[in-house]
Amino acid sequence: MLSKSIQEALNNQIRLEAESSQAYLAMASWADIQPGLDGVAQFFFQQSDEERVHMLKLIRFVNERGGFAMVPDLKQPMVTFHSLKRLFEEFLKHELGVSAAINELVDLALKEKDYATHNFLQWYVSEQIEEEKSARELNDKLELIGEDKSGLYLFDRDIMNYRTQNAAKK
Ligand code: FEO
Repeated sequence: MLSKSIQEALNNQIRLEAESSQAYLAMASWADIQPGLDGVAQFFFQQSDEERVHMLKLIRFVNERGGFAMVPDLKQPMVTFHSLKRLFEEFLKHELGVSAAINELVDLALKEKDYATHNFLQWYVSEQIEEEKSARELNDKLELIGEDKSGLYLFDRDIMNYRTQNAAKK
């Protein structure tokens, strides 16, 4: 059985994962209408789907443990971005925020000696290591490319392969 405070903290995480899904959906939609960013759009559509899966896993866990997962209302995310660089900076910033929230949850689970929740959260800890790594690498690549058009062309072309390669390494 989940304690009240753990249930509340997990419900907050459900909200955060839902907000992540919305935020990346907005990024996908923005990229979708920019010329030549089809790969980036696809990357964020997929990223949005993954965040929904993160949310669903939490919902199932809370309910299985005798709690009640509440589906949250959501505020509108940032919908326009001034540049590709800005878009990826927001992506990294968002993931760093999610990592911090997961770490706090792990901390709470330990404090309350809720080892089942602690164990469940380890999947999210590993996931965040990967997500942060990807976001950092993509930001580094963009920094190197700068305004170089052919570099940007290749970045957009390769971004989906990049995801596949990372998934294969898991
Ligand atoms: Fe589920 Fe990317 O955090």
